[in-house]
Order: sequence, then C-alpha cells, then structure tokens
Amino acid sequence: MINTITDVVTAALPINSILQGDCVECMKSLPDGSIDLVFADPPYNMQLSDQLMRPDHSIVDAVDDEWDQFESFEVYDAFTRSWLTQARRVLKPTGAIWVIGTYHNIHRVGAIMQDLGFWLMNDVAWVKSNPMPQFRGVRFCNAHETLIWAKRSREQRSYKFNYQSIKAGNEDLQVRSDWNIPICSGSERLRNGPDKVHSTQKPEALISRILVACSDAGDVVLDPFFGSGTTGAVARKLQRHYIGIERETHYIEAGTERISQVEPAPDESLMPINKPQRVSFNALLDLDLIQPGQFLWLEDRSAKALVRADGALNYNGMFGSIHRLGAELLKKPSCNGWDTWFVDNHTTGEFVSIDDLREDARKLLGLRGNVFMAAKRKSKAKQ
Ligand SMILES: C[S@@+](CC[C@H](N)C(=O)[O-])C[C@H]1O[C@@H](n2cnc3c(N)ncnc32)[C@H](O)[C@@H]1O
Repeated sequence: MINTITDVVTAALPINSILQGDCVECMKSLPDGSIDLVFADPPYNMQLSDQLMRPDHSIVDAVDDEWDQFESFEVYDAFTRSWLTQARRVLKPTGAIWVIGTYHNIHRVGAIMQDLGFWLMNDVAWVKSNPMPQFRGVRFCNAHETLIWAKRSREQRSYKFNYQSIKAGNEDLQVRSDWNIPICSGSERLRNGPDKVHSTQKPEALISRILVACSDAGDVVLDPFFGSGTTGAVARKLQRHYIGIERETHYIEAGTERISQVEPAPDESLMPINKPQRVSFNALLDLDLIQPGQFLWLEDRSAKALVRADGALNYNGMFGSIHRLGAELLKKPSCNGWDTWFVDNHTTGEFVSIDDLREDARKLLGLRGNVFMAAKRKSKAKQ
C-alpha cells in the first residue's frame, strides 16, 4: 500500500534492479531528489602502461581493465563532472554521497565535487590490513584507499548519520575516520575458477559500515558503478533498496546471482539507535514523579539531599543542580547527576535512580526514550 509522498517517489524508481548502460545516461532517467544515498566506486584512471611483475617474474593481477582507461586527465575530469552532476541532481534534499578512490583519482574527484557545490563532511582512510606489496620497492606500500563523504551543499541542514548506533557498536567510543578492514578475499571473493570475477570487488564490511551509518532500512541507495554488486548485496542484507548501474553484462550476471543468495537481516536487528530526547530535572516535579521536600540519596546512602520546589537540591545548606551537588559530594570535577541520585519508590518499594524516573517522564510526555534502558527494563520484567 502506498501512503506517503516518499512511497510514491520510491514506487516510481527501478528499485532492487541493475540498469545496464552508461551511468550518466542511466541516471538521467531517474527523477530529481529521489535517492537517499549514493555510493560510488568510479574508475581509478590508473594509467598503467606496463605489465606489473613480481620479483619471481610472475604477473601481478593489476587493474588494467578496459573500463579504467581514459585518454587524458581532461577526459577523466569531464566524465567525473558529468556523473557527479547527475548524482547530485538525483539526491534528496537530505541525501548524501560517498565516493571511494585511490591517490590516482580521489584528489581530482574531491576538487570537482567541491566545484559542483557538494560540501565535504569527512574523508575516511580505508586502511587495508592485508595490502598488496609494492613489488618493485621504489615507493611506499600503497595500503589505503580514501573515501569522501559529502552532502549536496553547505546549506543542507539535515542528512542521515546514525551516530548513536555506530558508537554503540564501537563499544561506546566515537568511530574514527581510519577504518581497518581487510581487502576482499576468501569465500566473499567472486571467482570463475581461479580467476577473479571483478578486479576491484570491495569488501562488504566497508560498504556495510557506510550503509549502517548513513541510511535506514527502506532507504534507496544508488551505486552508479555497480561492478560485482557489493552495494546490492549489502543493501539487501540491511533491508535498504538498491539501484545499480553497470555497463558490463558479465558483472551484471555475477552481481544478480550474488544478490539473490543474500538473506535479509531480521527487522529487529536493523532499528537505528537514536539519542533519547531531552527531559529536564524540573519536568520530574511537573509530572509529580518527584515532590518538593522529598530526599534524593547517593547510591550507597552515605548522603541525602532535599529537593527544592525550583528543582535545585539542598545538602546541609549547599545548593546546586543534580550534577553540581553530586560532583561536590563525590569530590569529582563533574558528574552525571542522573546516575548519581536515587529515590525510594514508595509504591514498588524499590530504590531507583532518577534516570529511571526520567525514562518514565519521557513515556508520559510521548518523547523518544533510551533504548538501552528499555531493554534493561524488559529483561528485568521477564525475571
Ligand atoms: C571500481 S569498479 C566497481 C567495483 C564495485 N564497487 C564492486 O565491489 O564490485 C567500477 C565499475 O564501473 C563500471 N563502469 C565504468 N564506467 C562506467 C560507466 N560509464 N557507466 C557504468 N558503469 C561503468 C565498470 O565496468 C566497473 O565494473
């Protein structure tokens, strides 16, 4: 059933399919402002002239494909400008783009993106934990690729970034802009006998990180250089819609087969974690969850403070907020008052943190809650 304008736009798109042809022409067939996220892995323009040899004279499997050949930097730049123009046009006003490349092309691509009005938000170094050695020993081993994350314009106010989800997955540490991920190998690498199906198949872990961080289930992700279909496989797993564009039939066939074998992850594993909405300590008084004159205790009951009608605390003539007074009593430079103070709940007989009462307040006010607290309460209720 179609309900919203977003659904109508999505229904008109060739979602979960691969368009065959030149990406600039194919993108022209997509409506303005219809795509949530673009992931692009364009040709590198490596300009390889000689065959690369190992010290034992065996031939290195380098990127010498026909699709990576451009006559000159000017031709490469003109092509880059054309596809980026189309990519920018099809992005929603809240959309964003990720582009990956090597030192051969990423600096040209980045400059053209800025010229076209994109606003760069981060560059990420994909640090390859198992890079190909520098066989001739005349340069540093080339152990990373660079990804650029950009929004459509400087003025664009909102874009998707599931900050809380990825931080939680990183054991509550902010995710940095250097990502250690091995190159695609083993059973993930598509092969035709001993030969690789695609010379530059990207690891699913890399694209998964991007889709988890910058899109939600149901979003439409466009990949104009689809290759072996890595973006499609990850999108299907994470229940995003994909649109792939690719010129070569054999890659399209391999990608189609690959995606058909992917099992989508269950719905409940894909919910993004959003920051709980703010509730002030005063709101607990407004909602009668705490009354003026009531005492708040430190967890070990070593001290108690009286709640004033204005929401401040009073401890033996010392006044302050839940955070300030908590820090004074704990002799710390600062503290989170929500985790510091506890109350006796006379109805349930429990000794609970005021953070628990804050969650009740969020519920009463119809605000977004703290998913970790909700999970804790659920498991407690089951016991
Ligand atoms: C760097 S590879 C992408 C690899 C892909 N990310 C993967 O994981 O398999 C670039 C791909 O873009 C395709 N390509 C190059 N120029 C194109 C164009 N103008 N239109 C559509 N596809 C193009 C090539 O055939 C190649 O498969």
